[in-house]
Parts: sequence; C-alpha cells; structure tokens
Amino acid sequence: MNKGSNVSRRAFLSTSAAAATASLASTSLAEEKPKGAAKTPQTVLTETYKSAGGHDVTTDAVYAGEDSGSSCYPIYQGTTNRGAYTRGSNPTINSVEVKIKQLEGAEFGIATACGMAAISQTLLTFLKPGSRMVLNRNVYIGTEKLVDGPLKRLGVESQRINMANLDELQAVLKKKTDIVYFEVQSNPALDVVDVKAASALAHGAGAMVIVDNTWLTPYLIQPLALGADIVLHSATKYMMGHGCGLCGIVCGPKTLMKRVESSRSVFGGIMAPMNAFLLHQGLKTLPMRMERHCANAMRIAQFLETHPMVKKVHYPGLASDPGHAAASKQVRGFGGMIGLEMNKGAQLVRRVKLCRPWTSLGDVQTLVTNYTHNAAWGIPANYIRMSVGIEDPDDIIADLKQALAKR
Ligand SMILES: Cc1ncc(COP(=O)(O)O)c(C=O)c1O
Repeated sequence: MNKGSNVSRRAFLSTSAAAATASLASTSLAEEKPKGAAKTPQTVLTETYKSAGGHDVTTDAVYAGEDSGSSCYPIYQGTTNRGAYTRGSNPTINSVEVKIKQLEGAEFGIATACGMAAISQTLLTFLKPGSRMVLNRNVYIGTEKLVDGPLKRLGVESQRINMANLDELQAVLKKKTDIVYFEVQSNPALDVVDVKAASALAHGAGAMVIVDNTWLTPYLIQPLALGADIVLHSATKYMMGHGCGLCGIVCGPKTLMKRVESSRSVFGGIMAPMNAFLLHQGLKTLPMRMERHCANAMRIAQFLETHPMVKKVHYPGLASDPGHAAASKQVRGFGGMIGLEMNKGAQLVRRVKLCRPWTSLGDVQTLVTNYTHNAAWGIPANYIRMSVGIEDPDDIIADLKQALAKR
C-alpha cells in the first residue's frame, strides 16, 4: 500500500483528528490494536457489548447465526421450509436475525424487506389514532413522508425539534408523548443526539425511544445499551455494504419485538431469503469496513474544511463540529457520512468522475447527493451529503479537487 492510504485501528480509535491523519500516513493494517485502547473515550461499545459466547463484536460478525458446518449459511428459497411459511419464518432469514440481534446486543431481532419496512412496520405497531410522536427536525425523507402522510391520516400527531438540544426535547415532552424517534447522527444534516440523555428524558416522560442506527451501525454504537427501547436500520446501507440489495432490521426486547414480528407477518415486509444470505456476507466484514469508512471520512473532512469552495463541513469527528462533544462520549468512531455547505457556484455533484452522484449511502463507493435548502428542518443552503467509501483516500481527494477546481 502506498500514498499514505493505510488505515490503522489506532487512527480509528483516536479522538484526535490530527492523530488520525498522522496515523493514516504512517501505520499499517497489520498493526495490533494498542493495549489499553479499550480505555479510550470511545469505548462505550467495547465496554457494554455483551456476546452470548463472550466474544467481541468483530468475532460475532463472522460467526453468529452461521451453520457450523458451512462457510455460508444456505439459501432456503422456498415459500415453505421445514413446514413454515416464509412470510412468518424462514431458516436463512432466522439465521441472519441471530447475527443482527447479537451485534446490537438485543434480546430479539427481526429482518425486514428494507429500511422503510422496518420503520413503517415498527411505528404502525406502537402508534394509534391520537398518539403523539416527537422526531428530530431532519430525518430520512422516507420517514418524514410516512409521518406527514399515512401516519397523519391515521390521526397520529407529530412534532419536529432539534433533538441535539436536550432543552428543546425536555420542553416538548411536557405534552404527553408516546414515541421519541431519532437518528443518532441525522440524515442529512448530522445533528448529533445524545442517546443516553435523550432516552432518559423520554422515559421520564413515559415515552418509548426508537432509534434509527443506519448511519453508525452497531459496530460504532449500540443504542439499546444506552437506553433506547428499539433500534432499527436500513441494512441496505453499511450492513449489506456493497449496494447489492434492500433489507432492514429491527431489534429490541422480546416483549416489544414479538409485536413487531406479528405486524411484519400481516403487513408482509419480510426480508427476501437471498437478501438475508447477502446480508450475512456483508456483516462478516462490517467492522473492517466501518473502520475504513471512519478513517477516510475524517481525512476527507479535514481536507474539505480548508477548501476555499467549502463554507462549512458537518462531521462530528471534527473538533469544530457542534456535535463533537456529544458524539465523542457515545461512539466508537464518527462514521462515514459528511455534510458540506458549499460556497455559491460549486458544482461538485455534477463534476465528480470517480465518486458517484447517487442518492444511496453506506456503499463501498463514495457517493455525493445535493439537498434542497430547508431552514426549518436544519438543512443549509447549497448542501451536499457525502457518503465516504473505502477507496484510497488520496484518490477520493484528487477527484474532489478536480470537481471543485475553477474552470
Ligand atoms: C437513515 C435512514 N433510514 C432509513 C432509510 C430507508 O432505507 P431503505 O432504502 O432500505 O428502505 C434510509 C435510506 O436512505 C436512511 O438513510
């Protein structure tokens, strides 16, 4: 490896942006995790992670749910297998459910057709006419449409606030609330929610906490260990990792999850067996990919922070980011997602040649997308969301440089 592209666990575990850059330039993948790294500030996950077999999350990503005699769990494609109808239960789907519940440190996990199937089936399980939901001001657009469309028609009231500001949360919880819903680092503006503090406030007010952990994955944070009641994902993104299929997951305590599982069987949004097979393969390398996404994102964020065409970089790994303090105490790494407020005239999305101008995220490629300004929901003008991939960071930077060059 050359061009300063090596990524080390030391770089990943370090809180310091400068240390991350230095490590990137000088260390190798073969380097051992430093002794005592588990005591650094980002080790919430290491300290709270509980595996049934007493293993680390990286080991469970490889072995949990697998068939001990096969290198890949087989695909049970039939509508009926071992006497069970696939809309309710299927051996391949069940095997990946064991892996995901183990990774999230949950009692029970279910696999859904996609992230939106996870979100809609979960919310429809717990909300009823007259229920009230509090959400972060910016959330994934599909969730926003679900809340403002079908849920509103069913008589569910919602209120959106800046949940990075816990005083705002406390204030709106004076009104009886059933569900507090947020993404740990929000899509697309990267508001950072303090999971432990927000969950405590919600519980104090009698509300259930549902967290979308798509952007960080259980390798970087385990919301259930920090107080959330339910954690869900678009596993289409980092968990699948290679842009090869849609899938979702929901995890939590058995009492709640049995109700979501029953909704899944009536709404029908279960994961396809083939996608469960692909998700197993993606999850096996999730820890390594997340380390690389984090290290690359830090490097790209630092580069863009000094670029004249960039007004502001949103990345919780940067000391300048308003979410840095909240993120530092709860994550193992800051993730691969960056937001960019561009100066007028920047045409980055149209001009990238290596990176892809696509709306998805969490893939191995670097993806860039334009966003529409919405001051009320905290989405700045000239905003671009970047999902930093696992390529050589110097190659990503070279592409960004040419895309942002004056012409
Ligand atoms: C945070 C978040 N949650 C949920 C979803 C929906 O996932 P899916 O496309 O798998 O339905 C997305 C999609 O981009 C997302 O970014």
